[in-house]
Amino acid sequence: MKIAVTGGVGFIGSNFVRFVCKKYPEIQVINIDKMTYAANPLTLEFLSEFTNHTFMKLDICHATEIKEILNECDIIVHFAAETHVDRSLANPETFLLTDILGTYRILEVVKNSRSITKYIHISTDEVYGSIESGSFAEHSPLNPTNPYAASKASADLLVISYIRCYKIPALIVRFTNNFGPFQHPEKFIPLAITNALENKKIPLYGDGQQIRDWLYVLDTCRAIDLLIEKGEPGQIYNVSACQERKNIDVLCKILKALGKDKNLIINVPDRIAHDKRYSLSSEKIQKLGFYPVYDFEKGIDETISWYVNNEKWWKFIKNSPEFQKYYKSRYPDL
Ligand SMILES: NC(=O)c1ccc[n+]([C@@H]2O[C@H](COP(=O)([O-])OP(=O)(O)OC[C@H]3O[C@@H](n4cnc5c(N)ncnc54)[C@H](O)[C@@H]3O)[C@@H](O)[C@H]2O)c1
Repeated sequence: MKIAVTGGVGFIGSNFVRFVCKKYPEIQVINIDKMTYAANPLTLEFLSEFTNHTFMKLDICHATEIKEILNECDIIVHFAAETHVDRSLANPETFLLTDILGTYRILEVVKNSRSITKYIHISTDEVYGSIESGSFAEHSPLNPTNPYAASKASADLLVISYIRCYKIPALIVRFTNNFGPFQHPEKFIPLAITNALENKKIPLYGDGQQIRDWLYVLDTCRAIDLLIEKGEPGQIYNVSACQERKNIDVLCKILKALGKDKNLIINVPDRIAHDKRYSLSSEKIQKLGFYPVYDFEKGIDETISWYVNNEKWWKFIKNSPEFQKYYKSRYPDL
């Protein structure tokens, strides 16, 4: 059996590739990644130990090449996307291309394929927008509030249309905020950990009262594994771990674990249209037998240890001209 994983050098994708290669040595994993700024080439060194892993540098928007490769596979797990909200506010076009056009390219292959038995489309809680109280269910309306979320919601709608029109064997899975090893240091938790390790100021948007529902990345991998086996084509599944934390509290926890002072935190102007709270109900996937095994405390300890022990990995990104330019433009005073 062959599984194609798109975006398998990114954060969740690379964790999933490792998870599958380890758990199912008999399965061939074809990892398709364009190697954008978000993919660290050092991640490939961590994947090179697996003989059932093959890497292919490719843009999912390239119809001919993508068709050739995907047509040889049985299952597709599609992670590849532009994912950073701040970058989508500054330059949305690449989000429309990869997240929407790229998904369309994959859907066209699935539509015309006789070998692909399941297409797992990876989506996000951000498509529902913010919720004051309670949690969104799979039938809740889509209400994206930034170009990243809008591009992901558009892709979801395309998938739904292909399910309805062509009965493709697709399902959509929407996760809450993930955390864990191999996440790019532009994102909230890795930025906090690595800046703290470097004794640099840690930017905190607004008052830090925004609430996110944190899911450890290995639980995400377990959920996808379950859906490959038991997920019903045509369905949407939300996945959360019901571990809501305020951003400020997450920062304080990280600083305490690293023995650093809270005065490293510096308030910066809030992101425009910053969603206050995300929350998903995962009752539907729980009925298939999913439960998270990592609580936030265990997950954050493991995440911190990983960044402490893998300085070479994150310094490769943070020392790159691309990151430094981005950081300077985002936080000119830091
Ligand atoms: N990180 C989260 O908290 C989270 C939560 C819910 C859902 N998601 C979704 O999970 C998926 C993965 O997120 P992530 O955080 O691992 O992202 P990431 O930014 O770490 O990785 C994205 C990967 O996709 C690759 N890529 C980008 N454009 C490509 C293209 N045109 N062709 C081929 N490869 C391309 C990049 O090189 C990178 O390796 C995304 O679809 C995202 O929307 C993420």
